[in-house]
Amino acid sequence: MCGIVGYIGDEEATPVLINALKKLEYRGYDSAGIAVLGDEGLVVRKAKGALKFLEQKIAAEIIRGTMGIGHTRWATHGEPSDQNSHPHTNVSGQIAVVHNGIIENHAKLKAWLTERGVAFRSETDTEVIAHLIDFYYSGNLLDAVREALTRLEGSYALGVICQTNTDEIIAVRKDSPLVIGAGEGENIIASDVPALLEYTRNVYYLDDREIAVLKRGSVEFYDEEGRPVQKELCRVEWDVAAAEKGGYEHFMLKEIHEQPTALTDTLRARIKTYATKSINLEEIGFNESWAKADRVIITACGTAWHAGIVGKYAFEHFARIPVDVDIASEFRYRDPIFNPGDIFIIISQSGETADTLAAMRMAKKSGARIIAITNVVGSTLAREADLVMYTWAGPEIAVASTKAFTTQLMCVYLIALKFGALRGCISETELAYYIDALEELPAQAERILSHKEDIQRFAAGNFNKTKAFFMGRLFDYAISLESALKLKEISYTHSEAFAAGELKHGPIALVDESTLVVAICTQRALFEKMESNIKEVKARGASIIVITYDDEHFFDAVADEVFRIPCTPDPLTPILSVIPCQLYAYYCAVQRGNDPDKPRNLAKSVTVE
Ligand code: AGP
Repeated sequence: MCGIVGYIGDEEATPVLINALKKLEYRGYDSAGIAVLGDEGLVVRKAKGALKFLEQKIAAEIIRGTMGIGHTRWATHGEPSDQNSHPHTNVSGQIAVVHNGIIENHAKLKAWLTERGVAFRSETDTEVIAHLIDFYYSGNLLDAVREALTRLEGSYALGVICQTNTDEIIAVRKDSPLVIGAGEGENIIASDVPALLEYTRNVYYLDDREIAVLKRGSVEFYDEEGRPVQKELCRVEWDVAAAEKGGYEHFMLKEIHEQPTALTDTLRARIKTYATKSINLEEIGFNESWAKADRVIITACGTAWHAGIVGKYAFEHFARIPVDVDIASEFRYRDPIFNPGDIFIIISQSGETADTLAAMRMAKKSGARIIAITNVVGSTLAREADLVMYTWAGPEIAVASTKAFTTQLMCVYLIALKFGALRGCISETELAYYIDALEELPAQAERILSHKEDIQRFAAGNFNKTKAFFMGRLFDYAISLESALKLKEISYTHSEAFAAGELKHGPIALVDESTLVVAICTQRALFEKMESNIKEVKARGASIIVITYDDEHFFDAVADEVFRIPCTPDPLTPILSVIPCQLYAYYCAVQRGNDPDKPRNLAKSVTVE
């Protein structure tokens, strides 16, 4: 996720900006840049790669000035490059902007600005902001920013400076974090508290759509109409290590909590809401010919493969198209049959997994068309696929994948529903119904997270169970697989997943009093079947947790504990039902004294076989 900093005071700004950016490195980034305002006007330096490359550029040509803004970029629009790095400037180079978030209507704004003679220099969504502010600027930077904001759709935290406003940084946020540090004769902005702590512990937390005007000796706040707002000054007591994790004990817990935002970011730009709601994948190059495919093959590894299994059920349900799901390491060494009408969906958080890339290259060689779902712009997968749909989850630092998984699911649903609509398998009304339901998921995920203490308490009582089995049917089976993987990865508990109907064909022999069984029960048509399966394992002494809907009491009598999730259409439940399982795995790992962020023997990205 991008990191923003800004400084205004009496010190040289460059070292402060670089130092503050270093404190944001943990967020992940692929390039960096600063803009400093001094006697030579507004000077911008940017560099692809680690901060040291930016430092080398600055060392070669020192920039002086006591105010400036800086940025570490995690690419979303346009691959990592010097050109796409922030800050972005207007045509004359007098207004500079750093941005964290996604401007959803950037294509429309770009076309509008291009018609007015603006020549764009980057592929980013951010550059439109600099040109828009310029368009509205006539001496008052605050007013120009306010006008520009009325044109922006999406999420943003912004830092803005202008060559002719030498005592002013404008900062604003909507759906992206931004904090203001209040110092003595100096003020500073940052995406996150760690960047401020060396300078001040007195901070203002900006709320959505609030605008801050930082001068050397003061900070003032305004609402979007330009009316003054009074803000409370808060004192930060965290240490730097805790601050990097946003106050959470581990990155994994932070990332679990980032899911509502990540889901919103991944979904929002892809929904069109004109007369009726529809899914917009045209911007990634999707057209009707893709939906005419005879077969879809989904290939991935680990958690991404589980997203593929959900994808199979979703495609078959919504689009009535045959789907094969393959583990990439198996696919590449099999003798798979390729048909001319096949399309491949390759899923990978990192976009660099060796087996997944090998499978993709085999498919490409066969002449198949490839859709990539990945979280990393400019990754090998993104570069080599025909179409790329990004999960806008931001960098995932914990080895165990959480927010990348749920955003992969969001992408899979969007593609499956789009296929379904184009193939005439779902009506406009049904499509609008499912889109409404997808739009509710982020808030529903938030509700689950607000009850995390229930899961923590349950984990405290069960973390030392030696066996945990997850079972479910259809979509719940896919989430059972993912939940069992999560638990084994970080708590080192022996956990397995079963399609509940398979129990009697063997696995039930393993069940005894030491077994915890998590039954995921969200497929309403199969409740009776699940009840029988639960009774079978209960009769053998297992403890039972059921995950089901808020308003559902079908399993109350057979379960030892029920975790409830908000109601949504059955095919969409995976995005919600996995969250209690992620939390359970996390709390078990912590109870066992493991580091959930760095589980033994595992790497975040498996770039070798
Ligand atoms: C997830 O928790 C795992 N760490 C792992 O299974 C991972 O999903 C797998 O290695 C695939 O990685 P990718 O998505 O980067 O391709």
